[in-house]
Amino acid sequence: PEERQFMYKGTQYPSTVTSPETLQALDNFEARADDILLVSYPKCGFNWMFQILNSLAIAAGTTEKGNEILPPLLEFRKPKNLQVFSSMPSQRILGTHLHPDNLPKSFIEKKVKILTIIRNPKDAAVSYYHFQYNNPVMGFNYTWDKFFSVFMEKKVFYGSYFDYISAWNKKINDENVHIVIYEELKKNMSEEVKKIAKFFNFTLTEEQIQSICSKSTFKSMKENSMNTHGKFGTILFRKGDIGDWKNCLTEEQSKAIDLKFEKHLAGTKIGDLLKY
Ligand code: PPS
Repeated sequence: PEERQFMYKGTQYPSTVTSPETLQALDNFEARADDILLVSYPKCGFNWMFQILNSLAIAAGTTEKGNEILPPLLEFRKPKNLQVFSSMPSQRILGTHLHPDNLPKSFIEKKVKILTIIRNPKDAAVSYYHFQYNNPVMGFNYTWDKFFSVFMEKKVFYGSYFDYISAWNKKINDENVHIVIYEELKKNMSEEVKKIAKFFNFTLTEEQIQSICSKSTFKSMKENSMNTHGKFGTILFRKGDIGDWKNCLTEEQSKAIDLKFEKHLAGTKIGDLLKY
């Protein structure tokens, strides 16, 4: 519904969780050089990645246990509450769904290490649809077909999936950026987790890595979701599968995404990584 969204610098945002004042205040957000910043397009595995990052940093002893359970999204705070981030002890693990070109500039100036998780567009769209539809806070009762056209027309919250992923492609060789692919993480979690640990210089034993992986499967996270996410967990941990789009997209819709993918991402490094 109209009253639950607002436009800021050309992009739609949900007014139930963020505001233009917060987005503006974030321009002056002060990063710390040792921060970890998790950035992802909605529904691409953000909460999964946060669980892994938080566990890695706790095991490595660089962050305090119990600092945060829910991912601390920068844009979800009221402007006056942004100061909670300044009183957070280092090493902070911060997160956002903001477009990579709209991150508070201090993160770039301080060369903060950024991790992003990306997911194939069809599963991301289906997950996004279910989330908006099932989430009473969002107050949407779109049909899938209506949501699909919103998704394709860039009117979805946080902007176009395709623009977002193309923006990461420009940063693919940035030594401060590490890109994780949802599908790879799902197929081979421990290898991917080891790469993440290496990127952040966390020294962990094989046993620690395996223990983190077993607590980070979809099943474990779903089982523990009442503790970590409360009621919101039942909406968030939906299926956690690769290829659920086949139950939802028509052939025509699937082809429309393929065409857009071709147009924006064919031949790019990130497009190759995202083959689905
Ligand atoms: S949000 O609300 O935008 O921050 O959502 P986000 O966390 O990015 O993405 C939610 C989807 O990620 C799935 N998920 C997982 N998949 C595999 N393994 C694990 N451990 C896991 N945890 C969360 C979650 O189920 C959502 O995808 P769908 O397809 O809707 O199930």
